[in-house]
Formats: sequence, C-alpha cells, structure tokens
Amino acid sequence: MRKSVYITRTVPEIALQHLKDNGIEYTVWTERRHQSEEELIPILKDYDAIIVSGPLKVNRAFLEACSHLRIVSMMSVGYDNVDVAAAKELGIAVGNTPGVLSGATADTAFLLLLAASRKAFHMHKEIIRGNWNFWDPTANLGLELKGKTLGIVGLGRIGFELAQRCIGAYGMKLIYHNRGTNEEAERELGAVRVSFDELLQQSDVVSVHTALTPETKELFNKEAFSKMKPNAIFVNTARGGIHNEADLIAALENGTIWGAGLDVTNPEPMAADNPLLNMHNVAVLPHIGSATIDTRNAMAAIAAKNVIRTFEGKALEHAVVE
Ligand code: DGY
Repeated sequence: MRKSVYITRTVPEIALQHLKDNGIEYTVWTERRHQSEEELIPILKDYDAIIVSGPLKVNRAFLEACSHLRIVSMMSVGYDNVDVAAAKELGIAVGNTPGVLSGATADTAFLLLLAASRKAFHMHKEIIRGNWNFWDPTANLGLELKGKTLGIVGLGRIGFELAQRCIGAYGMKLIYHNRGTNEEAERELGAVRVSFDELLQQSDVVSVHTALTPETKELFNKEAFSKMKPNAIFVNTARGGIHNEADLIAALENGTIWGAGLDVTNPEPMAADNPLLNMHNVAVLPHIGSATIDTRNAMAAIAAKNVIRTFEGKALEHAVVE
C-alpha cells in the first residue's frame, strides 16, 4: 500500500532520509509563503499524513475536511493550533516534539533576559546609528540578576532548564505558578509554588513557559503587569498570544515594568515598524527558540518517526493524540 506524507515547510534533511528509508513518499512545500488551509485541503486528498511546521490552523473544519489523514505530526512542542478534541473524535493521531528543544529554548529565554536587563539590543542599534560618541559613566545602565527572584509561569522542561541556568549563573531564587506541583523542581532547584498574584508581586524576572490555551490567552494584560515590580523583566518564549501587546507596550512606556524579552509576538511575523522594536528596554527575536542545528534535526527526526510509527501501527515517540 502506498504511504505518503505532505510537509508544510522545508525541514532538515534527516526527516526526509527517515521517510525515504521507510519507503514513504513525501512532498515538501518549498515556497517561502504560508500555504493557506483552503489551498492545502484539496492537495491533502492525495496524502495519508501531514508534517506541520508553521502556523497552519488545524482546526475542526480542517480536520473534518481531511479526516482520511492518519496523523498530524507537529514539528514543534506547541500544538495550540490543533483542535485536539476534534482529532480524537475523528481518529487522527497527533504527535509533537517535546524534550529535545528544551535546552535551546531555555538558552533563548536566558539570552533575552540578559539582553533586556542590559538593554543590549538597543545599545547595538545605537552604535549602528553613530551614537557611540562619548562614554558616559551614568548612561546605559542596566540591572544585575545576582540573587534575584525568577518567577516561572508554566514550569515544565523548558522552565526547568532556564531555572538551572539562572540558579547556576546568578544564584537566583525560583518561584513558579503551575496547576500542579513540580516535585522535581522543588526537590532539585528549591522551587516554591505560589499563586499567580504572588508570583507577579515577588519576581524580578517573570518568564512564561506555558501553552497557549483559552485560560492563558492574554494572561499578561494591564492588570497582571500592574502587579509586577517596577524593576521586573518580562520574558515570553512560549506564545505571543499569552501577552496583550498594547498592555505590554503601555507597561514598558509607563515604567510599570523595567523591560521585556520576546521571542514570540502577536501576530507573527512582527511588523518592522512595531513600537517594541524601538524601545530601549526591549529585546525581540523572530521566534528562534528552538533554532539550533542540533535541535531542529532532533525535532525533524521525531516528526518523521511519528509518521513512520503510525504507518507501522506502533505507538508514537511523542503523542498528543494516539
Ligand atoms: C515549538 O516547538 O512549539 C516552537 O515554538 C516552534 O513552533
């Protein structure tokens, strides 16, 4: 029986190699534009599976139109763009790629935290603008992180790795807000679970690592920012929809908080004239959390293996819906 998979963006070669080695035909969408759901649905009639990279809306309508698919294999840890309940009802497996990207994403959060605390991206732009003409001992001052409190919202694998970096480098204290207890973090990192409000009030750095869900959509809004310390730094490497951008801009402009580091924005891509890009206390990256060679290879390999295992009738390497 012919087995085939459609891949929504170019992916590392390792994924294609795994598919070839297992006799699976594939097509890769190579154009550098997002292929719309309407465009994709008729094409998918000829495929048994899809590897999704990028913001494809795998909602109920999409899944009902493609109910013949055996698996939606996400090349990402996040699957907020997938209607999981609909996939379950329709008997379509959903896989994702957790774990392998935790270190790279934690590095990105750490980088943004440092960059925001020392206004590094702004300083870099100042040199390019020709504004490095005098060394002023009272200018360009940043914040230090030593002994400060890191508050993580959604302490899972990525947050754990970020906390390890912050504790190792700066002896930071760790508090977190999760639905349940993270016993490993409490045991190994001395993490203390607190309410959301306590976390906002006590943290010098608030880093978000939760999934985007109806409960976390715009969780960081005017009210949340107003409860944070004036010297606090907000870091979001999870999903842009978790903060309200207008409220974040206002909080930064008013001095409600000190700074922000963002790897995710809403919408993505961010427009080049977005005010956040010109703020001295903000560092923005274009959703590169997992963008290292090793990590993207590992993600691509899992995404391909999840397809192969589905065709073989085996359990997925990482399943959201099996
Ligand atoms: C993920 O893995 O969810 C990253 O954000 C890439 O989409």
